[in-house]
Amino acid sequence: MGGNVALELTSINKSFKKGSTVIQDINLSVARGQVVALTGSSGSGKTTILQIAGLLDQPTSGVVTIDGVNCTQASNKYKTHIRRSFLSFVYQFHYLLQELSVLENVILPQLIAGKSKTEAVRNSQAILEKFGLENKASSMISEISGGERQRVAIARSIVNSPKLLLADEPTGNLDPTNSLNVFLLLCSYVKENNNSMLIVTHNHLLAEKADCVLQLKNQSLVKL
Ligand SMILES: Nc1ncnc2c1ncn2[C@@H]1O[C@H](COP(=O)(O)OP(=O)(O)O)[C@@H](O)[C@H]1O
Ligand SMILES: [Mg+2]
Repeated sequence: MGGNVALELTSINKSFKKGSTVIQDINLSVARGQVVALTGSSGSGKTTILQIAGLLDQPTSGVVTIDGVNCTQASNKYKTHIRRSFLSFVYQFHYLLQELSVLENVILPQLIAGKSKTEAVRNSQAILEKFGLENKASSMISEISGGERQRVAIARSIVNSPKLLLADEPTGNLDPTNSLNVFLLLCSYVKENNNSMLIVTHNHLLAEKADCVLQLKNQSLVKL
């Protein structure tokens, strides 16, 4: 389904309280194989856009189209299906399970998605190798560095091959070298698999490597 467009937001408005509009008439689309960067000052509504795009929050008005399907009026069952099968979030702070090893953290979402343990282990080992983490597979989360944790979190977010990645300042707490590495890992994953990504970043050096850069200003989007 969906043709070439993974995500489309059309005339999106959001107010949390009556009379206080956070975002107004937001229109954006993310094509397959495309990386779109979203910038804007703190509190401008970037996370709000990602939450609406990921069907975790409802717009006050407007349409969210994912993989060609208007999801605005879709049932909760369909939204859950899309969240599980089509998209994935990456956050600024990793939410890894401390009591599990690196390998187990990457295995878990695959078991939830219904893969067999054998397949999940095989996929996890492959992705950890790609991320340069093969020697850390049996380490506990407390035993690895911040940059390594963020790479594990990203490996976990993409191991089920989501078509649309929604990344909310995924490199925000990393040093410049790790930021660039993590960003490039995400981009190569998107490009190699013809997937797509909407990524919030404050880092202009990273944003300019995206296919398209949008800035959220005065509740609206401006193309840079
Ligand atoms: N659940 C909520 N209830 C009320 N106001 C909210 C809620 N979530 C976000 N906001 C407000 O919406 C604005 C945009 O927030 P957010 O999207 O988190 O901005 P950003 O990610 O760009 O920093 C802020 O003023 C914030 O206080
Ligand atoms: Mg935010």
